[in-house]
Amino acid sequence: MILTHVVACSENRVIGTQGGLPWNIPEDMKFFKETTKGHIMIMGRKTFDSFNGRALPNRYHIVITRDPSKHSFPSTESSPVVFVSSIEEAIEHAKPLTAKWGDEVFIIGGGEIYKQAMPVTDKVYLTLIHREFPGDTYYPEIDESKFKLTEQRRVEATIPFSFLTYIRK
Ligand SMILES: NC(=O)c1ccc[n+]([C@@H]2O[C@H](COP(=O)([O-])OP(=O)(O)OC[C@H]3O[C@@H](n4cnc5c(N)ncnc54)[C@H](OP(=O)(O)O)[C@@H]3O)[C@@H](O)[C@H]2O)c1
Repeated sequence: MILTHVVACSENRVIGTQGGLPWNIPEDMKFFKETTKGHIMIMGRKTFDSFNGRALPNRYHIVITRDPSKHSFPSTESSPVVFVSSIEEAIEHAKPLTAKWGDEVFIIGGGEIYKQAMPVTDKVYLTLIHREFPGDTYYPEIDESKFKLTEQRRVEATIPFSFLTYIRK
């Protein structure tokens, strides 16, 4: 299993504000959708809540919450949703599913989960938005003694950004 963060952050490391995204960048949304389609996604409960009661089609959702018994969501075959109580449990849950849903498992946030999952992360797809935004949720600094920047592609959109790939050394 490869554990990969997919994240978009501003130059000042902001990823969220008031439970949502601080920006609307369609090119990055497209990248997120294409990358995660058909795969398992691990996320914090607040990030799942930010989907406004909808699961994303053709993805397996593993939602981390301190009390899974308090949560339920109507799963479909193409879009299952399960609740677990830790990152470790999320990874154990994902293991037998990778044959069907792919070996690359995506950690899709938010701030709490990215930070706690960093020690077990193999790869990061980081969309670096070349602007500063106010916000209340941040992406941790990537330790360049542990991760190597392997790809970098700048996109001159309305708000310029770069797609960066980091791989654990
Ligand atoms: N820019 C991006 O790429 C991106 C990506 C994702 C999210 N976001 C943004 O980030 C923000 C949400 O991030 P966040 O940091 O506030 O929340 P989060 O990481 O999405 O979820 C936090 C919740 O996860 C559960 N949790 C965290 N650590 C846990 C642990 N060790 N064991 C069990 N459960 C645990 C808790 O749920 P319970 O409270 O239910 O116990 C906690 O309240 C939103 O603004 C969202 O839009 C941005």
